[in-house]
Amino acid sequence: FYGQTSITVEETEDAPIISKHIYGHFAEHLGRSIYDGIYVGEDSEIPNKDGVRTDIIEALKDIQIPNLRWPGGCFADTYHWKDGIGPKEERPSIVNAWWGGVTEDNSFGTHDFLNLCEELGAEPYLAANVGSGTVQEFSDWIQYVNHAEGSPMADLRKENGREQPWNVKYWGVGNEMWGCGGNMTPEYYANLYRQYATFMTSWENENNLYRIASGANQDDYHWTEVLMRDIPKHLIEGVALHSYSFVEWQDKGSATDFNEAQYFSTMKTALWMQELIDKHTDIMDKYDPENEIDLIVDEWGAWYDVEEGTNPGFLYQQNSMRDAMIAGVTLNIFNNESDRVKMGNLAQTVNVLQAVALTEGEKMLLTPTYHVLKMYTVHHDTKLLSVEFESPNYTYNGESLPAISMSASRNDAGNVNISLVNIDAEKENKVEIDVDALDVENMTAEILSSAELQDHNTFDNPDNIVVKEFKDFKLRRGTLEVTLPPFSVVVLKQE
Ligand code: AHR
Repeated sequence: FYGQTSITVEETEDAPIISKHIYGHFAEHLGRSIYDGIYVGEDSEIPNKDGVRTDIIEALKDIQIPNLRWPGGCFADTYHWKDGIGPKEERPSIVNAWWGGVTEDNSFGTHDFLNLCEELGAEPYLAANVGSGTVQEFSDWIQYVNHAEGSPMADLRKENGREQPWNVKYWGVGNEMWGCGGNMTPEYYANLYRQYATFMTSWENENNLYRIASGANQDDYHWTEVLMRDIPKHLIEGVALHSYSFVEWQDKGSATDFNEAQYFSTMKTALWMQELIDKHTDIMDKYDPENEIDLIVDEWGAWYDVEEGTNPGFLYQQNSMRDAMIAGVTLNIFNNESDRVKMGNLAQTVNVLQAVALTEGEKMLLTPTYHVLKMYTVHHDTKLLSVEFESPNYTYNGESLPAISMSASRNDAGNVNISLVNIDAEKENKVEIDVDALDVENMTAEILSSAELQDHNTFDNPDNIVVKEFKDFKLRRGTLEVTLPPFSVVVLKQE
């Protein structure tokens, strides 16, 4: 049994480019994200390059990771970057107060992170310490990584073995300043932001700084209102927003052992992203009708209970087809809102929350979420096509959500790409897409699907869920007919 939906796809003149940075990532000093997950040290038996796992480097290159946010999260506002430079054996240890109270030896620091970004071809996004740091410390970090020569910090960088600056463009001015960043009011933070931003110098490198204000938690519209009202435009390029998906914050439930009611609730919070972006954007439009300040969703993803027997402070969770649904619909929302949304950062890359990869010793697996990101690489830096349709409902226990989510783009070569998600747990859905105006021919397709929503990849069976070729579609006289199985992600590509 299925519903049938008609969808129109069109090219509009002033359509935005879907920034590849929408497909960005976030890795915090949290649990086994950096240590174990990314960095194992040069002496490890696990194959590595300068201490970073080569399997992770390859996996991230394969999804064309466009940027990586670091070192937090909450950790960022406790991080003093000078602890993480110079000879490793001389670096001080600290306690990671936010995440499990473990000792942090600072062996992964600024050079390690920025060299990794260079290796990956990803833009670094440094989230700097405002909560417990100083203006001087912040501006010194910028000088250290961006000033070519003839300054105290450039000299220090050279002493530490790096001649050329890295030219870091993206800077976060604190993180979650309404919470772990200092429990500030928006009025207080807006003033503090102005002070910090004033002393952020780009040191005349070609890569002018892109300053991101710590943003609202979900529907805290007042936060965005105050930042937009009180921060002068010449001091800011982006305003952030954080929103996680969960069953219930107080009762998150297992990542793999969940029922349909829990699935439905998680999808409800994931789809809420649309309303959040609409409403934050309305406020931004009011203060910035010229659309000069971007919305940066620099933390998003699913948050469940940790896996049994693991440290509750480490946020280690499995990743199932439910997570593939969250990734698929969220990225479609970002694509469709790419006029204002210019960056997104999935939390968090390896071994934490909605990770794209999990590790266990030398083993590594790629999650269903990873596969969605790989399928969606076709949208990186392409022109958004507008899509219009009434989605059929996915109904559970008398409540309904839109079952179908979609976005479409055209790349530089003129080829059209379409990503479709059917979140319905039971029903397949048939869509008829009118692509007549677009001159589309020769399409191929891929699908991510599985027998059960709870299915996931394990270290013993890492290829349980993989992307497969998809044939259940027809292109006839300007109409694409696609039958989407329950809880599936399909990407159609013009060859
Ligand atoms: O991603 C985990 C945590 O979630 C981050 O440290 C914080 O910014 C958010 O609350």
